[in-house]
Amino acid sequence: MPQDDRETIASLPGRGPFREYYDGPMLSRAQSIADLRARAHKLMPRFVLEYLEGGAGEEAALTRERTAFADWRFLPRMLRDVSHRSARHAVLDRDARLPLAIAPTGLNGLFMRHADLALARAAARFGVPFIQSTMSNETMEDVARIPGLRHWWQLYVFGGERIWHELVDRALACGCEALVLTVNSQVYGMREWDERQRIGRSLPSPSTTLDAARHPRWLASTLNHGMPEFANVRHFLPEDKRGFFEGAFWIRDQMPKDLGWRHVEAIRKRWHGPLLIKGLIHPGDVREAMEHGVDGVILGTHGGRQADWSVSALDVLPEVRELVPRDKALMISGGIRRGSDILKALALGADAVLTGRATLYGLCAHGEGGVRKALEILETEMLNDLGQIGVETLDQLGSNIVVPAKDPPALHPAG
Ligand SMILES: Cc1cc2nc3c(=O)[nH]c(=O)nc-3n(C[C@H](O)[C@H](O)[C@H](O)COP(=O)(O)O)c2cc1C
Repeated sequence: MPQDDRETIASLPGRGPFREYYDGPMLSRAQSIADLRARAHKLMPRFVLEYLEGGAGEEAALTRERTAFADWRFLPRMLRDVSHRSARHAVLDRDARLPLAIAPTGLNGLFMRHADLALARAAARFGVPFIQSTMSNETMEDVARIPGLRHWWQLYVFGGERIWHELVDRALACGCEALVLTVNSQVYGMREWDERQRIGRSLPSPSTTLDAARHPRWLASTLNHGMPEFANVRHFLPEDKRGFFEGAFWIRDQMPKDLGWRHVEAIRKRWHGPLLIKGLIHPGDVREAMEHGVDGVILGTHGGRQADWSVSALDVLPEVRELVPRDKALMISGGIRRGSDILKALALGADAVLTGRATLYGLCAHGEGGVRKALEILETEMLNDLGQIGVETLDQLGSNIVVPAKDPPALHPAG
């Protein structure tokens, strides 16, 4: 077993050669998502990294979202023409450069000022959709103005009905392509790291403040412009709850604990475009979602931040695929760090994946250019992997090309 995380199978225990990630300023030298992550860790203060990286409780769901990919191996084919490989794929019935959308992540203003504009611009220029969170620090109208953007709106239901009515109406007026209703956060995951950063609900701890002060570059690009605000819902917050921390707690407290299918039905009636439900894991819930006329589901555990000890999206994907007709979208989120992860997800039945941290590492490391770089890295890896496994296009991926890592099934000679 490696003694520290710089040791790999190619190292002699304790003697190396140790793997070094590139965390310097030259974007072109970043080779993998791990390099972007290393630079993000160099630049961000500790409390921001905790927010970016952390999961709920024991972080078992967080770990599983990553390790689940290791349970599947490729079964490569040789002597196949792989001269014309492509990673393009339809996402919600429209061609995209990758089978991917950038996941909704709230409070991105902690990483840099105007972070959601940077993420959305990178998504638009690269050619994949961007999902904006209800907890975003930019208005949806500002994001909607980005040329060529495939803009999806992620809805949290909180407070009275008039809040989600207004958000849905605004998303319609903004021309958002899809509505993503997140349903796994009505009871907020226990995130101890988050509690340790603060004294009470609004005061950062002295060590958090000190550590933030030691990151002048981050301060200059974020908090020197004031604390980020919940730009889309600020006007719903009571006046004394409009501060960053107070607002986040207030919204959390207002999440109805009885969110149910009747809410889905009401949202379905008001929203005229594609409606996706995000945060399902249980096949029974996916079946119900299909019965309630949604256009797709996004499986996942909120990047391990909800439902600790849950199985991961990849674990249930093959079973869920059987329940989701081909004219509905089946996406997964959680743990995507490599092009091979995306290929495995598609081979096991997903139509597309979401990236949360992978693209956020790029954002923290290099802003908009870093997000684009993260997407390019995933694309390069996918195209390379396709060549290695003897597949030209993503629609050729299937259970004939991935097998469980342990106990592989008997091979079909004609497969
Ligand atoms: C910092 C952070 C903030 C998040 N905020 C939201 C959010 O506001 N709404 C939401 O539906 N999911 C949110 N998520 C979950 C992501 O949409 C996505 O499911 C998850 O990040 C996927 O896992 P990955 O980060 O390993 O790719 C958040 C995740 C992270 C890491």
